[in-house]
Formats: sequence, structure tokens, C-alpha cells
Amino acid sequence: MQIFDLVIIGAGAAGLFCAGLAGQRGQRVLLIDHSERLAEKIRISGGGRCNFTNRDVGPANFLSENPAYCRSALARYSSQDFVALVQKHGIRFHEKHKGQLFCDDSSEQIIQMLLAECDAGGVQRWQPSTVADVQTPPEGDSEGAGFTLETSRGVVKTKALVVATGGLSIPKIGASDWGLRLAKRLGHNIIEPRAALVPLTFDADAWAPFSALSGLSLPVIVSTGKGKARGRFLEDLLFTHRGLSGPAILQISSYWQEGENLQIDLAPDLDLVAKLMEAKSDSRRQLGNELASLFPQRLAQAWLDRLGLSGSRPMPECKDRDLQSLAGQLQGWQLTPNGSEGWRKAEVMRGGVDTRQLNSQNMQSKRVPGLYFIGEVVDVTGWLGGYNFQWAWSSAAACARSL
Ligand code: FDA
Repeated sequence: MQIFDLVIIGAGAAGLFCAGLAGQRGQRVLLIDHSERLAEKIRISGGGRCNFTNRDVGPANFLSENPAYCRSALARYSSQDFVALVQKHGIRFHEKHKGQLFCDDSSEQIIQMLLAECDAGGVQRWQPSTVADVQTPPEGDSEGAGFTLETSRGVVKTKALVVATGGLSIPKIGASDWGLRLAKRLGHNIIEPRAALVPLTFDADAWAPFSALSGLSLPVIVSTGKGKARGRFLEDLLFTHRGLSGPAILQISSYWQEGENLQIDLAPDLDLVAKLMEAKSDSRRQLGNELASLFPQRLAQAWLDRLGLSGSRPMPECKDRDLQSLAGQLQGWQLTPNGSEGWRKAEVMRGGVDTRQLNSQNMQSKRVPGLYFIGEVVDVTGWLGGYNFQWAWSSAAACARSL
């Protein structure tokens, strides 16, 4: 039997980072992952360049049933702290859009950096290795017996156990519900897991008029929900054969609830009624050409078809009512998704281990002393834009520094 101070299950973003920090603080650390290749999600992230954090991170960029939970960890290990580590390792990076930081070269550099930090902390890694059973410490645990794990490489004892098994998205690269099942078995509440940062789909018949727009992209304002559950984003939208994608839709998908509408303004920053009325009095152009000067041609035609308006009608002959209705439809497009592309395409999981049963200072369970949950397995879900990795780094640091 082997004895460790700390065993971490899951060698992804949070697990690797926690292992390196704890090892460098003198802990004997074992990091276990069931996959052949570690950190696959880092590898494929950001189109292979890993959007590893965002310059501007705060609790408002996260969804959770307990929105204040992430505040302490994010404040104590900030995006600036992670940027300093990236700089220390000589990794070149750039800012792309709204504070999003990407590697200049490859996400592999972030993985190599995390592995170097683990090596500096003398972390042992078992991979691939599975954990069949976890026995919790006996009541009181005056002898310091800790947790007993039955792994595919033998029995292991540890004082502290960290669950960093991530979310359920993309099962083919190692996602599993192991952490959620363990949490539940040990008395934790699970906030229902849902695919998030995911393309949305529509009923095939309802979508038929739009499927010809596949591949078209444009900036929009998209919103859904009410009150505190309301999401609103100004980003690019992408039409696909089955529905909608692009950053605007990935962002709003985290807020969208089954049966709810999306509202989409296809002409943000424009008073379209005023613009069309002005064109009616000033321009001799045809309606189709006028609209195509403001929108992609295919989109303009699709909306004229939807409303049964002729694009060849000269602007001065257009009825005010038709122009108002056209503008209303383009700036207040209402549509109800029938679902999402699911775990296969989702970037993250919304929901997870209920944070009301965890300590926000160190991520420790309030039910089982010595048991910790970090990263995406916890009910803290970031926006698109580097926020999910920052949660992995911050929650890992909060845990490792408390050990
Ligand atoms: P992560 O998923 O990284 O790691 C979990 C680890 O646990 C895996 O190695 C897995 O094999 C292991 N594991 C699971 N079950 C196990 C078991 N039973 N036994 C042992 N090991 C087990 N975020 C961001 O901020 N910027 C970005 O650019 C992107 N891009 C992006 C692209 C794509 C395609 C996806 C799918 C996701 C992103 N993300 C992202 C999200 C980001 O990848 C994610 O939030 C973090 O990787 C979460 O880190 P964790 O360590 O919690 O889980």
C-alpha cells in the first residue's frame, strides 16, 4: 500500500495546477487520470491555442446557484497571477477579443508548463489508472487514517482527496460523471448538469426557411431569461444547418432554459425603423437593395420572403406598416430552440456539486472533512472567453494553498 498526503483524481486543468502547487508546498502528491493522454481539453481549447484566461475576471462572468461562492478564490488567485506564471515560463501570448488571452503558438505550451510545475513539486502521476472505490475516513479519524482508494495500480491511502474530474462535455476525450457520483454518494447535493456553451437547435420544419443561411455570420445582441437569470450578449452569431452557433449563441446557451424564447437583434447599434423611413423619403433604391446595404444579402432576402415583401419595390412606394414590421422582425426576432447539440459539442457543463456544501475559502466539503472539489465538477460555470480555465486555476490554488 502506498501513502500520500494528497491524491487528486483528474489530471486536467484544475488537477494538474493543484498538484504542482501542493507538491511545491511539500505535500506528497499522487495525480490519477483514467485517460491515456492528460489535459485533452486544454489541448483542444481555443482552437489549439488555449484561451487560458481573461484580463478582466469577476463573479459576474460566472453562473452558479450560489453566485458569491467563486468570489474569494478568484480574488486570491487572479488572472494576473496566472499571466505572471505564463510569463515566467516564457510563453508568448496575445489578447484577441474582450480581454481573452491566447497562446501565440500552441495550447501544448500550457500543458508543458503545468507538467513542469508538477515535476518541480515531485508529483507522482498514474495514467491511465482508475479508482474503483473510495472509503472515507472513520468517524473522528483520531488516528489520521484518511481515505483508502482502490485503484487499478493497488490500494492507496491519503489524508486529503481532491476531485478534479471536470464536466460531462465531450465524453470521447475522457469526461465522466465519476466525481458527481462520488459527491452524491457522500451526501452532496448535485445541481442538475446541463450542456452549456453549446450550439442551439430548432425544430426541422421551423428551421427550414433559415437552413439556407448556413455559414452566414453577423454581430447581434441576443438575450433570454428574466431578472437575475437574464443573459444578454453582443457577439457574433453563426447560422448552421440545424440551428444557431457562434459566440453569441454559445454564451446565451448557458442562460437558456428549455421552452424559453431567445430575442435576437440582428442590427445592434442601429435604429432600423428610422433608417428605413429615412431611405423611403431620400432614396430611389429598391427595398431589397436598401436592405442588402445594411445586412448580408442572403439574410435580407430571407426576411423579405418571410414577410412576403417584394425586394424590387422602390423605397418611396413601400408602406410604412411594412417597413415597421420588417424592422421589428429584424431587431426583435423571437425564436424558441428545441434543444442543444448536447454533450458532444458543449464546451462546458452547467451545474455540478452544490457549492452551498463546500467551503469557498478552500473548496473543502462541509460534509466530509479532507474531501475537496475543484474546477468544472463544481457548480461554477464561466462565460466563453477564458473564464472556465481561470476558475480551474483559482479553485485549484484555493485548495492547494490550504493544505
Ligand atoms: P478537465 O476536463 O480539464 O479535466 C478533467 C480530467 O479528469 C480529465 O483529464 C479526465 O480524463 C479526468 N477524469 C474524468 N473522469 C475520471 C475518472 N473517473 N477517473 C480518473 N480521471 C478522470 N475554457 C476556457 O477557459 N478557454 C478555452 O479556450 C476553452 N476552450 C474549450 C474548448 C473545448 C472544445 C472544450 C470542450 C472546453 C473548452 N474550455 C475552455 C473549457 C475548459 O476546457 C474546462 O472548463 C476546463 O478544462 C475544466 O478543467 P477541469 O480540470 O475541471 O476539467
